[in-house]
Amino acid sequence: MTAVLDVRNLETRFSTPDGMVSAVNTISFTLNAGETLGVVGESGSGKTQVFMSVMGLLARNGHCTGEALFQGDNLLTMPKKKLNTIRGSRMAMIFQDPMTSLNPYLSVARQMTEVLVEHKGMTTHDARRHAITMLDRVGIPEAARRIDMYPHEFSGGMRQRVMIAMSLLCSPELLIADEPTTALDVTVQAQILDLLNDLKRDFNTAIVMITHDLGVVAGLCDRVMVMYGGRVAETGSVKDIFYAPRHPYTKGLLQSMPRLDGDAGSSLYAIPGQPPNLQNLPKGCAFHDRCAVRSDRCRDIPPALLDYGNGRMAACHHEEAAR
Ligand SMILES: Nc1ncnc2c1ncn2[C@@H]1O[C@H](COP(=O)(O)OP(=O)(O)O)[C@@H](O)[C@H]1O
Ligand code: SF4
Ligand SMILES: [Mg+2]
Repeated sequence: MTAVLDVRNLETRFSTPDGMVSAVNTISFTLNAGETLGVVGESGSGKTQVFMSVMGLLARNGHCTGEALFQGDNLLTMPKKKLNTIRGSRMAMIFQDPMTSLNPYLSVARQMTEVLVEHKGMTTHDARRHAITMLDRVGIPEAARRIDMYPHEFSGGMRQRVMIAMSLLCSPELLIADEPTTALDVTVQAQILDLLNDLKRDFNTAIVMITHDLGVVAGLCDRVMVMYGGRVAETGSVKDIFYAPRHPYTKGLLQSMPRLDGDAGSSLYAIPGQPPNLQNLPKGCAFHDRCAVRSDRCRDIPPALLDYGNGRMAACHHEEAAR
């Protein structure tokens, strides 16, 4: 079976007046149809830039190398025209702020029908009908009337649904969701996650869920990739990551997660220290100055990402100490 997305040795650099930023450092992973991968890590760990690289959406000062095979075709070397076609129909990305992808000056109807006319060759009439079905599908009440509204006329949660409906119009094989629920209140967040779960089931869409919130991962994802300093710290099934982490950073993230059964008076654990400076990554393990189980070796020698079988990988000299 060809993976929907197969990323190999992805490296992303940004040139800045202050020097080179190493945002993504030799990242590899695969994603199959119907699978949901959670990409987790603190802010600035390179999560977004992995997928901006994959989608060909890097800022002008960015450059990436490696491979990103979409159904076997390398997105990173593909002619721009072909990439644009794939991006508009077979893979889609949604963001924290829906206004990143919605045009404030055009009605939702106009934006949705244009996509279908352009990518699917539909008539305007059929496109409108299909768009209404999709708005209905993502839980917009009175979709047939509301489709003529402008993005600002929707509430935050409804606008997020509109963006999801837009992104799903052409039934993409791959949906990349970058912190789509971070700005929403807990109830709406839960509704959007339910919606993504339904989509995964009904359309067999491969989903990447980028988030700093492990709670989001637990309910939606099959596998998790934990990133630190632009590298993979650990990957594995949700169960393995939650119940048997092999990296001290993952363990720290889990300990800093609010627990429903936690005692209300107890304060949350926070991993001490700051994430590494991507302009000047340490030569050994990037986590060593924050790690409770480090040794001298950690400071000098970068830990290799070792394969423990069943998609389980971790990059730590003392992974046994994290368990
Ligand atoms: N255009 C750019 N120029 C320089 N650095 C950038 C640029 N875009 C992103 N970065 C840097 O890349 C790093 C990774 O960013 P990002 O992938 O957005 O992190 P995350 O999504 O995990 O919060 C950050 O340190 C960020 O400052
Ligand atoms: S390699 Fe060393 S410093 Fe890095 S996470 Fe493992 S134990 Fe900690
Ligand atoms: Mg981000």
